[in-house]
Amino acid sequence: MYEFDTLAVIGDGSSGYEDAVSPPIFQTSTFGGGREYSYTRLSNPTRACLERELALLEHGRHAFAFSSGLSAVNSVFSLLKSGDRVLISDDLYGGTYRMATRLFSRYGISFEFIDTSDAQNVENYLKTGAKMLFTESPTNPMMKVAPLEALARLCKRHSTLFVVDNTFLTPCFQNPLDLGADVVLHSATKYLSGHHDTVAGALVTDNDAVAEELRVISMTLGNALSPFDSWLVLRGLRTLPMRMEKHQKNAFAAAEYLKTHDAVESVVYPGLPEHRGYAVSVSQSRGFGGVVSFTVRDVKTAKRLINGGKIIKFAESLGGFRSLITYPITQTHSSIPREICESIGITDRLLRLSVGLESECDIVKDLKAMLDE
Ligand SMILES: Cc1ncc(COP(=O)(O)O)c(C=O)c1O
Repeated sequence: MYEFDTLAVIGDGSSGYEDAVSPPIFQTSTFGGGREYSYTRLSNPTRACLERELALLEHGRHAFAFSSGLSAVNSVFSLLKSGDRVLISDDLYGGTYRMATRLFSRYGISFEFIDTSDAQNVENYLKTGAKMLFTESPTNPMMKVAPLEALARLCKRHSTLFVVDNTFLTPCFQNPLDLGADVVLHSATKYLSGHHDTVAGALVTDNDAVAEELRVISMTLGNALSPFDSWLVLRGLRTLPMRMEKHQKNAFAAAEYLKTHDAVESVVYPGLPEHRGYAVSVSQSRGFGGVVSFTVRDVKTAKRLINGGKIIKFAESLGGFRSLITYPITQTHSSIPREICESIGITDRLLRLSVGLESECDIVKDLKAMLDE
């Protein structure tokens, strides 16, 4: 087996058409001839190429590409049925919270939001039975780290399906299936595509029965990724390893700088040895990613930061080439009630920085200019 950097570049070695180095975009809704492909909602050669490569990178045998990360969440929740109980990380992307509380709870599925960074806490909940455990790691935006191997063992013991949202680290830095997870989820809008030019999602699993259900769910919901967007994600994958290294290098520089500034109260980045999840991170991941969250001392400073800087742009999303600053309380996490947000640290003084690929000196200079009065 080749190294990750090589696999990201060469994929599985088969673009499926004329030995093309860059896979062609099969921009067609339908196929004649009654052969492997019939209709693009069901399958498409460009999407299939992406799915093979995602499976390869995430060490699973089956992958599904969706029209967004939230579509992937919708699909994995569609494995559930009325009466099922789901345990889900209390800190997570607001859209996933909305999917659970506004949509799937209507169908008699119950969701309990719990701290998944503590295996003992999770076990206490698992003892009374749960169909699914869903966690991000690190979580968005508080960067809590879940001990994935321990949680996977507990899930096996209690026959609970274990789903991990690996958006923040990507397979470059973390392979949840190797740690015992059943399904890995991605917002491919972020690092996998990496260029702020597409919205996409993915699920990867090694479980044949789950894969068969997901195949039916995807073709029935009609939420599979388009050929062109599949191609954009494929193009992003080629540079994923080098981008992740640079995102991480810049994130360290930003986190270290933020720690020194008087206007900053606290910084959360799993790469800092003082981070609560540092030891677990080191034991299960090969990197810490490019997202840094921080709390400033007063709301006035937070408001100044959200005007953005010369380089750092105030915009939702993360994982692309450009540094973006986000105000979770009014943006990504606005669907979560204020009191819940505040109880886990998402206050009106919290900002999330997705550190881009610019020069680290310029990023730090921009942060300084934004933070200084
Ligand atoms: C961790 C995480 N998972 C899932 C999603 C949803 O992805 P998308 O915006 O591609 O629907 C997001 C979006 O920000 C996210 O941050």
